[in-house]
Amino acid sequence: MRLKVVLLGEGRVGKTSILFRYIRNEFQEKQQSTLQASYMDKRIKVGSVDAQLSVWDTAGQERFHALGPIYYRDADGALLVYDITDSESFTKVRKWVKELRKIVGNDINIVIAGNKIDLERNRQVSEAEVLEYAKSVGASHFYTSAKQNLGLEECFNELATKMVAQ
Ligand code: GTP
Repeated sequence: MRLKVVLLGEGRVGKTSILFRYIRNEFQEKQQSTLQASYMDKRIKVGSVDAQLSVWDTAGQERFHALGPIYYRDADGALLVYDITDSESFTKVRKWVKELRKIVGNDINIVIAGNKIDLERNRQVSEAEVLEYAKSVGASHFYTSAKQNLGLEECFNELATKMVAQ
C-alpha cells in the first residue's frame, strides 16, 4: 500500500530536519531552506499492513505558499509542523488546517507536530492552547525534536495508522 504524506508548516520550523532524521537518522544544525519540494520513501508496518510512505518535504517560506496544492492535493495525510518557540508558526498551522479542509476535504488525515521540544525553555506556544486546538479539529498532536530524535516515530505511526484505517 502506497501512502503519500506531505510535510507543511512555516519556514524554519524543521520540516526538512524531521524528514532527514526520520528516514536517514541524520541532523544538520545548519539545514538550508527548502526551495524545491522533494520526497523520500520509507517502508513501515501498520499492524499487518505493509505500507510504503512517500514523505514530501515542501518549502515553508511564504513566497512558495501558492505551490502547496501541487503537493497536498493527492496526499493521504499531512503532518503540520510548528516550532514551539515561535507562536507565529502555530498560527500558520491553523491556516493550513482551514486550507486543507477547504481544498482537499474534511477527510484529510492530519497530525500536528510541535517541533524543537529540546528548546522547551524558550517555549512560546502554550500547551493548553495547542491541545485544545488539536482536539477541536480532531487532530493528534505530538511534541518532536528532529535534533534529539524525539517523537518522530510516534507522529508517522499515528498518521500511517489513520491513513490505513481510512
Ligand atoms: P524551510 O525549508 O524554510 O521550510 O524550513 P524547514 O521547516 O524545512 O526547517 P529546517 O529543517 O530547514 O530547519 C530550520 C532550522 O531549525 C535548522 O537550522 C535546523 O537545524 C533547526 N532545527 C530543526 N529541527 C530542530 C529541532 O528539533 N531542534 C532544534 N534545536 N533545532 C532544529
